[in-house]
Amino acid sequence: MTAARPSGPPAQERAGGAKAPKTRCLVTGGAGFIGSTLVDRLLAEGHEVDVVDDLSSGTLANLAEARSSGGAFRFHNLDIRAPDFAQVVVRRKPQIIFHMAAQASVKVSVDRPLFDAEVNVFGSLQVLEAARAARVRKVVYAASGGTLYGEPDGADLPVAEHHPHGPLSPYGVSKKAAIDYMVTYRALHGLEFTALALANVYGPRQDPHGEAGVVAIFAERLVKGETCTIFGDGEHTRDYVYVDDVVDAFARAAKRGGGLVLNIGTGVETSTNHLYRVMAAAAGTRAQAKHGPERAGDVRRSALDPDRASIHLGWKPWTKLADGVNGVLAAFRAQLS
Ligand SMILES: NC(=O)c1ccc[n+]([C@@H]2O[C@H](COP(=O)([O-])OP(=O)(O)OC[C@H]3O[C@@H](n4cnc5c(N)ncnc54)[C@H](O)[C@@H]3O)[C@@H](O)[C@H]2O)c1
Repeated sequence: MTAARPSGPPAQERAGGAKAPKTRCLVTGGAGFIGSTLVDRLLAEGHEVDVVDDLSSGTLANLAEARSSGGAFRFHNLDIRAPDFAQVVVRRKPQIIFHMAAQASVKVSVDRPLFDAEVNVFGSLQVLEAARAARVRKVVYAASGGTLYGEPDGADLPVAEHHPHGPLSPYGVSKKAAIDYMVTYRALHGLEFTALALANVYGPRQDPHGEAGVVAIFAERLVKGETCTIFGDGEHTRDYVYVDDVVDAFARAAKRGGGLVLNIGTGVETSTNHLYRVMAAAAGTRAQAKHGPERAGDVRRSALDPDRASIHLGWKPWTKLADGVNGVLAAFRAQLS
């Protein structure tokens, strides 16, 4: 699967250069799509990695490479809300926690807001309390750039971090609440953080049966020769950022960007129609997508300005959409064969 991936940032541009000092890292949600990609990157750079994940949406298959990597990797099948969680953190003494574990569905948050808050608010507080008890140096948090700013005016796109926060779903509120706690913990307890406000992340290992992964959904259908459905007129826009680029931002944020919320996106709006055209061309098909009814509550346009991440992390989105979707299609082909 890795062989088919786009090449990503040039080696000399990667976070920390060729020889970053070894760090003890703990990744919550490390069996998920983004978390497991980060775990592979951290292990490849020679760091020690503990993963805490309850496997509610993640899988051990995502950690196959990590689990075969030897003694630098440990997996803890554990809910971040469990009383044992803090003990694991205190025992393992990570220097950095990458906090990715979340209830990540907007729909679930609307249907079950209490559950959403339990995982995303209470669970994040547990992470911060454990970090405090274990004297962790820094927490790097996977925030949601797509929900944080509500529905900005077209004139404000791509949206920058100074735009007022105004989430429109319980998920957006719970993900924002964790940022607010991080700001408070930094002031009260000196616990450093960086919150990366992620755009629409895509890449291999994204669940094609989830609600948000349109690239994964299209890729699976195109590889199987099935018709894709575009909801509404297809002119909704999103900011698609490739998972390896996102993981590069997390690696950089281990050392930089303290106390900041930083957008991780491309700044480019891509319509669903355009995305389909790029993906169909990459899959070598002229088949048309069909159009379904518009989905209620979908934000019309979305894009995040990445300039602040460029200044504070030296980060740029490296992967072109056409290259990234090729990586996803290749991963699905490999899975199916
Ligand atoms: N994918 C995106 O486009 C996107 C965009 C913005 C923000 N994010 C954020 O990035 C993070 C990772 O998202 P993803 O797309 O990889 O999702 P994912 O569902 O693949 O990963 C989430 C992981 O967290 C684990 N988890 C869930 N609840 C847990 C709990 N209570 N205790 C322990 N582990 C738990 C799941 O098993 C899973 O492995 C999430 O915090 C999400 O909110 C993702």
